[in-house]
Amino acid sequence: MTIWLDAQLPPKEPLMNPPLRASVPVVPLADLQRQGVVVVRGADRPIAVYAHNGRVSAVDNRCPHLGFPLHRGSVHDGILTCHWHHARFDLCSGCAFDLWADDIPAYDVEVRDGMVYVAARPRQASLKEHYLARLREGMVQGISLIQAKCLIGLLKAEVEPRELVRTVALFGVSHRDDWASGLTILTAMANLVPLLTEETAYLALYQGTRRVANDCAEQPPRRELRPLESGDLTLLTLKRWLRYWTMVRHRDGAERTLLTAIHVGASPVELADLLFSAVTDRPYADTGHLLDFCNKACELLDLIGWEHAAAVLPALLGELVQARGGEEMDSWRHPVDLMPVLRQAEAELPDLLRAGAGKEWHDEAALSQALLGEEPLPILAALREALCAGAQPVQLARALAYAAALRIARFGTVNELSDWITALHTFTYCNALHQALQRIPSPELVRGVLHGAMSVYMDRFLNIPPARLPADGAALAGGSQDAETLRTQFLDLLDQRQQVDAAARLVARYLRLAHPVPPLLDTLTRAAVREDADFHTLQMVEAGIRQYHEWQHRPEGEHILIAVARFLAAHSPTQRAQLQTAEIALRLHRGESLYEDGID
Ligand code: FES
Repeated sequence: MTIWLDAQLPPKEPLMNPPLRASVPVVPLADLQRQGVVVVRGADRPIAVYAHNGRVSAVDNRCPHLGFPLHRGSVHDGILTCHWHHARFDLCSGCAFDLWADDIPAYDVEVRDGMVYVAARPRQASLKEHYLARLREGMVQGISLIQAKCLIGLLKAEVEPRELVRTVALFGVSHRDDWASGLTILTAMANLVPLLTEETAYLALYQGTRRVANDCAEQPPRRELRPLESGDLTLLTLKRWLRYWTMVRHRDGAERTLLTAIHVGASPVELADLLFSAVTDRPYADTGHLLDFCNKACELLDLIGWEHAAAVLPALLGELVQARGGEEMDSWRHPVDLMPVLRQAEAELPDLLRAGAGKEWHDEAALSQALLGEEPLPILAALREALCAGAQPVQLARALAYAAALRIARFGTVNELSDWITALHTFTYCNALHQALQRIPSPELVRGVLHGAMSVYMDRFLNIPPARLPADGAALAGGSQDAETLRTQFLDLLDQRQQVDAAARLVARYLRLAHPVPPLLDTLTRAAVREDADFHTLQMVEAGIRQYHEWQHRPEGEHILIAVARFLAAHSPTQRAQLQTAEIALRLHRGESLYEDGID
């Protein structure tokens, strides 16, 4: 089903309502008392006006749950009951007793000279404050429909997405004591919002919001620790201490050290340096997730403001101290023990960076091919050579991320479905490393390039046999040439299972016909956010779109989007239960009659 925020909507609601006074004469009191309830046309919705127990009340006539006309319900002892799913409300205030149904907007009323007057707009003094407060309540109560309705209300009230993200993120870091995947999804989706149509942006933010709320359900809240009170600690000392506490797995020590760095005024770059140094002390920690989480925390603070660093960054420290690194993983030690060669290469990095200083190097595509090699030593040698020739760390990471994307673009579908996640872990790690190195290209963080290269090397079995990239002729032969048709075909294709190669061909065809890319990026995102997609699928889309922008119209850009399309197709369709909730919220916002669906 296609849903559009702007189609058939009532006029835009202002942030502040007009003065609250009963202003519209609607019905003689005597008539209302005789009938019990009448429905009148409000400014943008039907209003049910009641005379009950000697009082006059007015509420939106659409049940906030799924829109059933409330005048068809019943009222006893001041309690209004909807006759669809039997939610109950206080008739005077509209507040719900059954929280899953949400509160009903209520209107001021007045009786003058035997006539009932009803306010033109409901009571909320400020839509923005109302929706932000309800969003927090919807997250506490874990009710997705309320979250979705509040997101629509906030977006329609033209609240900046970053303000909305700030509310959700600060809820997430205060209602749970660690960094959960929902915060990563929220940040990834927020990063994409500027590229998306209004409808896809809403679905993306909804995915992030509901994941954060789910992560917090039944969780202990954040423990508040204080910074150290020493006044003369240098950042160098704090960095050394954070790495030490991380290696000995002492969370409280790590947290007080990091809070002290924030307290003494460390800049965003200095804080990132502290964190990424500690993260990369363990190669490819937590199958790459830890570096990705740290990068996402920095990106989140870029969005919502680094003044929230003391609230956000400590959430990382549980994972930071617990994560297992490659040195503890059997796959990194057998059949080839990668650790001795990695440690030697790490030790050489400062000299290699010095050797390349002042030189220019532009051979990323060739380096990517070398990184896909069959043996670890030549791969490390190619990286050494590039550094000596003047390669910047960020260039190495860009080449590395492309090599990791090729593992997915050429993923052999005879592998097990769960193997896609192995390739995904490497790609999202490499993307995070690329973003992080743009922030702080420190020698410690450059070690992450070596670690990522070893992960790409270990994933080589996923390309046995390698899937073929769409050949020029095959991608362009037959079929539609129309851009919109191709995008629709892509979404339709993902209504079926395992359309991996067909999805790759459609994307290749679209790009080789030189159609505009932004609508395709919106379609790829839409394909992910309409599903009950797991964390990894949403990560894949964001990382793929960011890496696409590094190469754009070059063949590498096409290969990266093919990787995204293949991954999406391998994980679609799902039940789309979350899409149903998001669509219900939209249809309620438009005033559509859900209760009439299916009636001939
Ligand atoms: S309870 Fe009213 S529509 Fe469901």
